[in-house]
Amino acid sequence: MAFSIRTRLTFWYVSLLMISFLSMGAIFSYSLYSTFITRIDAQISSVADMLPHTVINPKGQLFLPGDFAIMLERFFGIRTSGNHIQILEPHGKVVAVSSGLGKLTLPLDKETYANAIKGVSTFETIKQRGQFSVRMISRPVILKGRGLVAIVQVGSSLELMEEVFRSLFYIFIFGAAASLVIAGVIGWFLARKALGPVTAITATARRIGAENLNERIEVDNRGDEIGKLATTVNEMIERLEDSFKQIKQFSADASHELKTPLTILKGEMEIALRGHGDAEFMREVIESSLEEVDRMSGIVKSLLDLTKIGVEKEAATLEQVHLEIVLMERFEHFKRFALDRGVTLKVVKNEPAVVEADPLRIGQLFYNLIDNAIKYTGKGGQVELSVYKEKEKAVFKVKDTGVGIMSEDLPHVFDRFYRVDKARTREAGGAGLGLSICKEIVETYGGTISVESSHGAGTLFTVTLPLASGS
Ligand SMILES: Nc1ncnc2c1ncn2[C@@H]1O[C@H](COP(=O)(O)OP(=O)(O)OP(=O)(O)O)[C@@H](O)[C@H]1O
Ligand SMILES: [Mg+2]
Repeated sequence: MAFSIRTRLTFWYVSLLMISFLSMGAIFSYSLYSTFITRIDAQISSVADMLPHTVINPKGQLFLPGDFAIMLERFFGIRTSGNHIQILEPHGKVVAVSSGLGKLTLPLDKETYANAIKGVSTFETIKQRGQFSVRMISRPVILKGRGLVAIVQVGSSLELMEEVFRSLFYIFIFGAAASLVIAGVIGWFLARKALGPVTAITATARRIGAENLNERIEVDNRGDEIGKLATTVNEMIERLEDSFKQIKQFSADASHELKTPLTILKGEMEIALRGHGDAEFMREVIESSLEEVDRMSGIVKSLLDLTKIGVEKEAATLEQVHLEIVLMERFEHFKRFALDRGVTLKVVKNEPAVVEADPLRIGQLFYNLIDNAIKYTGKGGQVELSVYKEKEKAVFKVKDTGVGIMSEDLPHVFDRFYRVDKARTREAGGAGLGLSICKEIVETYGGTISVESSHGAGTLFTVTLPLASGS
């Protein structure tokens, strides 16, 4: 069964308090008891020490007058009230009794008797059923040459001590019980106060769904543990909110991008339907429709890539990819395209640099950057490519003398669907996904991508990737 933290806290709190009460009580009673007993032992043993001189003559004969008690009090000043005094013959028979304790008789058990024969005094506490206990000393009287001539027993009532203990016990029990109840109740409320914010966090967290991710938990005290927890949960909700917003934006953008070619396609098909069977005209319409279909499949492929790149890193087996080889492959691929557009494509530096990655994705990264550089550089422009190693990193640079990017657009070029000049890039066939795919690839393999540009003068993209171990 699961108890709430509040219940457990209160339980532990009260239990600890109870344990400390009990141990304090035990220590206190033990030391009080020892003090009492030491005192009583001293008192009875001093009486027992005096007695042999009063009742035994030097020859070892017992001298027992008719009224033993009066004799003790009058002649020797030994107080008999509260004490019980017994004289026993060597074989244990009681021969004189003076009792200030009613009808009490003191026992002489075997062990005590054995001690007495050896000349050793014995202290005992005798518990009497239904009555107070008695502390007793049994002291042997031994004379030189005669051995054990008598045993003197002095008992003193422990009534006072027992009464003190009884009252202390009740005071302790009631005091402790009352304190525990009060501490429990206060503890219960304190725990509620301390854990109140947790209840608030739970309530807010329960309320929050996709629709109200803008809600936050109120934080009263940011410094304490619960304040930190609430702040952390708030930060988590904020990140969730951001992700949700991004996903929403992404779906909106994606549908919008697909809608445009679909509308064009629909228009073209309607024209074709209305056409009068002119083969040339039909051909033009179909060609133009195919372009839109290509554009759409391009967008869909890019979208799929974007969702796959981060996920596939775990699944894909990483390979040693030689960037200098990838660069040459891409250079060969784009040579013709650049030439057609009147752009000079050059490799200015190509040093061996090996990274650990999926070769297809690295190819795609190079493709997108070189494709942009050529696309956004006019006739007569130049595109320079380089690969080299620098500070444990592989570096890939694409530098062009093209249209450049305005500084206000620079921070956004890696955003999904972001295009600087919508009209022109649509002509060039771009959906604004190329650079976000590059960023995703680079970050997946632990690298960085950055851009520097001056409007009208050209752009430089720099990619760094960690070198493969051992290269
Ligand atoms: N080398 C460059 N010179 C000037 N502008 C650039 C350059 N590279 C990118 N841009 C600008 O950044 C925008 C985003 O580039 P990105 O590659 O993401 O999209 P795209 O090229 O428009 O479309 P896609 O690559 O998806 O076909 C481009 O539309 C363009 O305006
Ligand atoms: Mg592009």
